[in-house]
Amino acid sequence: MSSTDNDLSSTGPRLRDQPPGRVDFTMMFLTHDAFLRDLRRLEAAVAAGRSGERAVRNGWETIKEELHIHHVGEDEAIWPPLREALAASTDLAVRAELGVLDLMEEEHGRIDPLQTRVDAAFAAGGEELELAVKEFATAMASHMEHEEDQALPLVEQHLGPEGWARYHQFMIGTNGPDRVGAYLAWLLDDVPEATLEKVLGMLPPPVRAAYRQKFEPEYRAVPRWTAPTA
Ligand SMILES: [Fe+2]
Repeated sequence: MSSTDNDLSSTGPRLRDQPPGRVDFTMMFLTHDAFLRDLRRLEAAVAAGRSGERAVRNGWETIKEELHIHHVGEDEAIWPPLREALAASTDLAVRAELGVLDLMEEEHGRIDPLQTRVDAAFAAGGEELELAVKEFATAMASHMEHEEDQALPLVEQHLGPEGWARYHQFMIGTNGPDRVGAYLAWLLDDVPEATLEKVLGMLPPPVRAAYRQKFEPEYRAVPRWTAPTA
């Protein structure tokens, strides 16, 4: 994944060089990279035998919560209108792209039981947990790669900026301001300065202020991933 941000002191999502097009996929790419960041943290914590720590359990709960919201948004507000647009085309090559949406739905369905397996494996710990986490992380990474390489170009071509704006509106309307604020704080966890500035610059001033005064402090108040410093 290429990056336009070279602050190597941060581990969080970086701005990517986007493919040319009319749709701004910044938030989607950052969300995927935030999942990858947390999956790396999960794998490291489990490998270090820290799965019993509250901070690690909290981190895992956050991954599940963000993933649920992310997949509901795609399943309800991206894939259906995209499926409709592809199916309505008289061009057979365009209709053949419906297979990409079948793949997206199939992969979402495959990730759910892998997540349940990680949940169950937390009780067992040890090798079973390491294996379950590895399988979950691998499935997530390959799904996000397929989505970026195959599905987002279809969004660009067939939904365009208007369709993408409807998806963002769905996410805000369905989840409400406080949940969106919690998402932003998770997204921006340990991002390089350029990423932070760009995302905050995309937000309306009252949301930006709420991020600084409420959402970020609330996110920080819950211990996640970091080992306690005695
Ligand atoms: Fe996604």
